[in-house]
Amino acid sequence: MLIKNITNDIIHIGINDRTTDLFEGMYRIDNGVAYNSYVILDEKIAVTDTVDCKFGNEWLNALDKVLQGKTPDYLVVNHMEPDHSANIARFAQKYANAKIVGNAKTFAMIQAFFGTDFADRRVVVTDGETLSLGKHSLTFTFAPMVHWPEVMVAFDSADGVLFSADAFGKFGDHDAVEPWTDEARRYYYGIVGKFGMPVQTLLKKLGGLAVKTICPLHGPILTENLGEYIGLYDKWSKYQPEIDGVLIAYTSVYGNTKKAAELLKSELDGKGVTAKLVDLARTEFSFSLTDAFTHSKLVIATTTYNGDIFTAAREFIDHIKERNYQNRLVGIIENGSWAATAAKQIKERLEKCKGITFTETTVSVKSSLDENSIEAIKTLANELSNK
Ligand code: FEO
Repeated sequence: MLIKNITNDIIHIGINDRTTDLFEGMYRIDNGVAYNSYVILDEKIAVTDTVDCKFGNEWLNALDKVLQGKTPDYLVVNHMEPDHSANIARFAQKYANAKIVGNAKTFAMIQAFFGTDFADRRVVVTDGETLSLGKHSLTFTFAPMVHWPEVMVAFDSADGVLFSADAFGKFGDHDAVEPWTDEARRYYYGIVGKFGMPVQTLLKKLGGLAVKTICPLHGPILTENLGEYIGLYDKWSKYQPEIDGVLIAYTSVYGNTKKAAELLKSELDGKGVTAKLVDLARTEFSFSLTDAFTHSKLVIATTTYNGDIFTAAREFIDHIKERNYQNRLVGIIENGSWAATAAKQIKERLEKCKGITFTETTVSVKSSLDENSIEAIKTLANELSNK
């Protein structure tokens, strides 16, 4: 548990979770994850968001320490995903005079999760509305689909603090010693990646605010170089690559497709083109899908399997498609000993994505590399290096 002043009146309660193996039941989090709640001490006291159900006692104990015998007036619910909302009912029971602040969609979800919508003690806010606490006031900006429909962010103009909900969060708990960007990027593309347009809308709505501090629901409080973080969010939500280079995403049953992928990398290296190999069967999906969005070009090298695309490659394609993969050049190396259909099926799956173009060269390997397929890989490397 971490209790720390962000400003004189705003206190951060941070909970470290090293017990969850898979975030949202699917994302590997080797360095855990943090849940953040905040307390604003003013004439009226507001608490923003709660934490995951496993840490309810820890959070309520931390809240006790911060409040020092006072009682909160409001619980502001910026996001209803259970990793932040699980303790609303416990809070409401403990602090019977506190009001619950949310929007109409928030209270529909509260009803569904807790069997009550706190009709007698709720404050339903609208987009742009301000809640005064005394010296501080919270102005709410709705941010639907960043990452659920009810999400809103709150800005305190007195201290320039933005309570940004899931935006600007990252994997890794508060003890994780790692740079912000890699795990924030993987968190972004994995969890929010589908919702680039809503993120763009939010960034535009927040554009005029004098933000000095960003307080997300996961990961560290951001106090310096905010332009860099906002610039990355702008780039990611526009689906723009960060690396001018080729991700070669492959699967290989007996090593022959791997050899083809390695040959392509070596050809690209020789031409001074940045290229990265990723073995889709041995890389957790959120790392490989993030690499796909980070690079400007993609080559998928895989086989036909059970009449479909080899499982790990098929799942990789589904993951990037679900997250609106777009505006990229894609090449294909298919391998098949008989009835190869992987290239055709990959094209069918990806051609519906916005702005996807395919290289003129598609490489077909029949079981193992031969003169023809080696030549085709060299041609593909030329094409990739010229575009
Ligand atoms: Fe961390 Fe969308 O909740």
